[in-house]
Amino acid sequence: MLKLFKKHHFNPYIFIACMVIPFCYGNIALTDTEETSKSKPTATYSNPYFKGTKEERDAQVKKIAELFGVDCNFCHNEELTVFTEEGEKSKLMMRASVALGVDCDYCHIDLKHHKENEQQARRMFELCEIMGTECNFCHAGKDKLTVKGEKSKTAFLTRAWPTEGTKQCLQCHIEKKQFALNFYGWQVLNAMKGLKGM
Ligand code: HEC
Ligand code: HEC
Ligand code: HEC
Ligand code: HEC
Repeated sequence: MLKLFKKHHFNPYIFIACMVIPFCYGNIALTDTEETSKSKPTATYSNPYFKGTKEERDAQVKKIAELFGVDCNFCHNEELTVFTEEGEKSKLMMRASVALGVDCDYCHIDLKHHKENEQQARRMFELCEIMGTECNFCHAGKDKLTVKGEKSKTAFLTRAWPTEGTKQCLQCHIEKKQFALNFYGWQVLNAMKGLKGM
């Protein structure tokens, strides 16, 4: 009776084994990838400013610390869970750098000194603050402007923006609303359309 039982169930056991073993391997492979992605701090390897392999990213990170002549903890702890004021500012600066398609040393000489584009850059940061935009509203990489960027290039020229500043833009645009038009702005737009016969 026992013999018969064994004989009858021999094949199904092999069948089950064949089904289960690949699953086991599958699971091992899965936990492997999960573990490697956990050992890299996933949340931290996500800033678009950093590109390329781990070595290239590490080199970029070192370059920043060297440029400013500071330790890593000037900006954040080792786990990248706590950021200082400078660290938070650097996040904003990284977004700006990505939009412009440049590195930090495009504007920074060191922590205390800036390149000759400092005033221009400061005005740009101020404009973004007033209008509620980010740099990528107008900048699309190195020496490239978005359509909105081209429009504002004209506005900068016609309104002497470098000397007159961004406040004058509020005559027609609403503060913090990414250049949405106010009532007067709409009147101007309609008049423009009238002139063009639209
Ligand atoms: C001037 C500020 C500053 C300094 C100095 C600095 N970091 Fe960072 N680091 C940052 C910011 C900001 C981020 C992006 C964090 C984010 O987007 O959440 C970052 C990201 C990183 C990342 C993740 C990189 C990636 O691919 O996203 C690593 C790793 C790192 N830093 C390590 C270091 C080490 C090691 C040092 C010292 C050699 C250092 N940092 C010095 C500001 C700094
Ligand atoms: C387009 C020019 C520009 C680029 C690119 C730029 N910065 Fe800045 N950064 C400035 C200006 C201008 C200031 C001073 C004004 C301010 O603090 O808002 C500044 C200030 C800072 C400060 C504050 C310094 C202080 O005195 O406390 C930090 C930190 C900083 N930048 C980090 C970075 C890092 C990191 C990068 C590269 C990822 C970077 N910046 C790229 C223009 C730039
Ligand atoms: C409303 C549109 C607009 C926004 C937003 C904007 N810029 Fe600009 N920016 C321009 C225009 C237009 C120029 C002039 C480009 C030219 O003359 O070809 C310019 C030029 C510059 C220049 C000098 C040219 C260069 O590429 O070096 C810098 C530096 C700059 N912007 C930095 C920034 C930074 C940093 C931010 C975000 C904090 C920003 N801009 C946001 C429109 C904008
Ligand atoms: C006298 C009114 C007036 C003033 C002042 C003015 N604008 Fe405008 N702006 C307009 C009108 C009208 C439009 C919409 C027509 C168009 O898109 O060409 C517009 C559109 C724009 C746009 C495109 C917005 C989008 O979402 O497509 C940008 C960017 C812009 N202006 C930037 C500026 C800047 C920067 C200043 C200040 C230096 C400024 N404008 C001052 C009337 C004005």
